[in-house]
Amino acid sequence: MTDVFRKDLFNGKVLFATGGRTGIGYKLVEQMMAHGANATILGRDAKGLAESAANLEKATGSKCLAAAADVRKPAELKAAVDATIAKFGRIDFVVCGAAGNFLAPIGGLSENAFRTVLEIDTLGTYNTLKATLPYVRETKGAYLHISATLHYKGVPFQAHVSAAKAGVDALSQVIAVEEGPRGVRSNVVAPGPIGNTEGMSRLGTPGYDARAAIPLGAMGETQDVANAAIFLFSPAASWVTGQTFVVDGGQQHMRGSG
Ligand code: HXC
Repeated sequence: MTDVFRKDLFNGKVLFATGGRTGIGYKLVEQMMAHGANATILGRDAKGLAESAANLEKATGSKCLAAAADVRKPAELKAAVDATIAKFGRIDFVVCGAAGNFLAPIGGLSENAFRTVLEIDTLGTYNTLKATLPYVRETKGAYLHISATLHYKGVPFQAHVSAAKAGVDALSQVIAVEEGPRGVRSNVVAPGPIGNTEGMSRLGTPGYDARAAIPLGAMGETQDVANAAIFLFSPAASWVTGQTFVVDGGQQHMRGSG
């Protein structure tokens, strides 16, 4: 927990987050709630989601709604948005964080595997935008997309995720430009390697030496990404939109880094 930001920063605000059950998404939601927001978390695992929501409420004292839904299914997303409005009355902030991931060489990647990740990451983001936008316009709120840095270069075994995240980045920019005149902002946070996450356990290379690969000498923590999110949702970033905020300890600038 950081004590850099005011504890009442998001009092009265409501966050709608896809992918908030574990890892980066969970910590991000926890930190938004610790700063006063109530939240909905959304994912496919109803039981795990309910446990996470209970833990989030216990840890923060704010309210959390668990909405079991698949971001690939617009009707389920609409039901989750309707439940959020019924419970909290508004949506100020949206985190598009639901993502699928695994390592696979392009030659071994089936059409269905490629499509599955694009449908979760990119189409899922589109579906989330469509379901929430009317409410985010009302509050002149903000979007934050959890992307990655791997698609800035060619990273082996990540064709599906690279294509999907490039699409997410593009969607965020278009939302920033189209919706800016209505007072809606949209930004991307792009984490580098973050320790103790499902993504890292799926993608991590055995023997990866963070001290050699990352200028700041260590893998990131989920709190590092949450800190960036708090800033980007806060009024301190009210003139920041269409940006990608890279949180990677400088990894992307390291010669020979992946
Ligand atoms: C090759 C695979 C595979 C693997 C699944 N598939 N896993 N192919 N290698 N390891 C293929 C399946 O064989 C199938 O294709 C197709 O993908 C769909 O699989 P399903 O299991 O039916 O799909 P579904 O249950 O909808 O979702 C599967 C999933 C998802 C996408 C793998 O369960 C998932 O990724 N969960 C992980 C969540 C996660 O880690 N989130 C954090 C992401 S971190 P066929 O052809 O057989 O039908 C992140 C950070 C990125 O995104 C950047 C980090 C640097």
